[in-house]
Amino acid sequence: MSLIEIDREKMPKHIAVIMDGNGRWAKKRGMRREFGHRAGRKAVKKIVESCAELKIKNLTLYAFSTENWNRPKLEIDFLMQLLFLSLKDELKNLNKNNIKFETIGNLDRLPKKIGDYLEKVKEETKENSALTLTLALSYGSRNELVEVVKEISTKVKNNIISAKKIDETVINDHLYTRHLPDVDLLIRTSGEKRISNFLLWQIAYSELYFTKKMWPDFRKKDLYKAIVSYQNRERRFGKTSEQVK
Ligand code: FPP
Repeated sequence: MSLIEIDREKMPKHIAVIMDGNGRWAKKRGMRREFGHRAGRKAVKKIVESCAELKIKNLTLYAFSTENWNRPKLEIDFLMQLLFLSLKDELKNLNKNNIKFETIGNLDRLPKKIGDYLEKVKEETKENSALTLTLALSYGSRNELVEVVKEISTKVKNNIISAKKIDETVINDHLYTRHLPDVDLLIRTSGEKRISNFLLWQIAYSELYFTKKMWPDFRKKDLYKAIVSYQNRERRFGKTSEQVK
């Protein structure tokens, strides 16, 4: 799959990725899971670069789920350290490439050093406008929705909002992703065909793309393939084929 096949008029505005398969990729090579995560980091760099080149406005990566807290402590510590070092290494590049960094998820659960550094990177990149790179960290979609319900019900109780006025826009405006458009294309690597508690509300009309490639092997040409597949689908949003033509 090459760049030529991509229709620049029909680019997705928001791509989200469930980066899966680091552990299996490492195991296949007789290595520890951490080796897979390190290779996964390189794939992240390539895909961010590629989205910037393609002028995609929003890329959201599932880097650590609420369920991932149940992994062995050593693996969690490794992932946190990898995240910290990656951010330190990449801060300059984010600014050089006009990339705004954002997060979604409950950052309170992250080690303070990491949480503080994430805030610093967000602050120092907040004026950038070419691509918004959002990392989902300590993120779970059901948890996000529970928090939305709590926030809205408190507002109803305090007469800030009337229950009758609650609609999809109100809910949207309380999600972590309130600054992002809906996801157009959701990619999952490693052959699993699951959503795993990722952006359940936001993917209501997304095109889903599953590939057997393990995340550390995912390259620019794999992204092009996903985009071409997306472009060849007819997005009807509940309408008939004739209506959308
Ligand atoms: C899923 O593979 C991957 C993760 C839980 C972590 C994602 C982390 C990276 C891609 C590396 C660094 C990222 C950043 C943003 C610096 P898995 O461990 O679930 O693999 P498995 O399903 O084969 O066990």
